[in-house]
Amino acid sequence: MQRFLLVDDDPAAEARLRGVLRQSADWDMVCVRSGAVALATLADQPFAAVVVDLAVLGADALDFLQTAHDRFPGVVRMVMSSLDDATTVLRAVPVSHQFLAKSIAPARVLQALDRAVSLGAMLNGTALARVVGGVGTLPSVPGIYRELNRVLSRYDSSIDEVAEVVEQDPAMTAKILQLVNSSYFGLQSSVVSIKQAVSFLGTNVLRTLALSVAVFRDAERYECAAGFSIDAEREMAGRTARIAARLVARPLADEAFTAGMLHDIGKVILATQLPESYSDILSTARSAGRPVQEVERERLGASHAEVGGYLLGIWGMPYPIVEGVAYHHTPQRAGNLFDIVGAVHVASALADAAPGDSDLDLDVDFVAEAGIVDRIEEWRQLFPMVGA
Ligand SMILES: [Fe+2]
Repeated sequence: MQRFLLVDDDPAAEARLRGVLRQSADWDMVCVRSGAVALATLADQPFAAVVVDLAVLGADALDFLQTAHDRFPGVVRMVMSSLDDATTVLRAVPVSHQFLAKSIAPARVLQALDRAVSLGAMLNGTALARVVGGVGTLPSVPGIYRELNRVLSRYDSSIDEVAEVVEQDPAMTAKILQLVNSSYFGLQSSVVSIKQAVSFLGTNVLRTLALSVAVFRDAERYECAAGFSIDAEREMAGRTARIAARLVARPLADEAFTAGMLHDIGKVILATQLPESYSDILSTARSAGRPVQEVERERLGASHAEVGGYLLGIWGMPYPIVEGVAYHHTPQRAGNLFDIVGAVHVASALADAAPGDSDLDLDVDFVAEAGIVDRIEEWRQLFPMVGA
């Protein structure tokens, strides 16, 4: 039995949650009415998660989340909000794990808690810690991403300021314009400036493109594992991102795009930081015709998916993206709903398939339980046709 702390002053919301908790053998809840009492309670007793209604904390919400992050890093932080605190929600992105709409069904709150806690357990597992411990240097979050986050977190940031951050780096600017103008985005007219790119694609996609350009550029400084190509990985990342964004509905598309773009970042880390053992892993996988993640797990105790999720967790990426990356080969670990995890799973299989390939590297149980068996064939037809 695990416990979470609810910070909410609405007795009706508390009662709704207590209703589903009566049927749950996994979760118990303590409810408090203010941020100050919540911090004292977290210091006093162990909790797996804290669920906070942003409206209760008002202007102190960000301070509360930051303090909880600093003092209780192992406690999952979830934020409940209604649409009218959207601006606070945006600013809370770096300091919370997940957002839930205030109107969400109480049973979904428990599901979200299960997912977040099991991801946390996986990322803090000993096998993964051993692999990460064996990696010389984990890359730090690219400066341009930090700078874009800083500008975008202000209410009054303009497209000009966002473009300026990118344009300070001419090589980055050229690479982004090249990507935006590739068949990859299927834009009708050519894009000649970062400002134009932002207005066509939005700030989130631009931020992801800048992050991915920086990640792959950084990796080029290292000697890579034999049999591993940074260029091929970059290409595959772009294809996966574009497909993933089209498999889910609009509100999830940007996150699916980002998770798709970064899904194999763990491979880049292993290939650049453990080149010898990774060469061996790649050649074993190829000669035996086995999925590389299976050989990674056998040799290292964890796969590139988990290593990538771990890194993005450290970078403070939003939780759904960390999850999408960490579970892209094991989607059932996130449940059977088709959301970002499923989209990245299917997109990476589609992006990886050679034309006419009949076998996709899919988890058949997940595909069946998520109810997407018929759609796979439809998607397989669709994406080669649009040059994905
Ligand atoms: Fe992968």
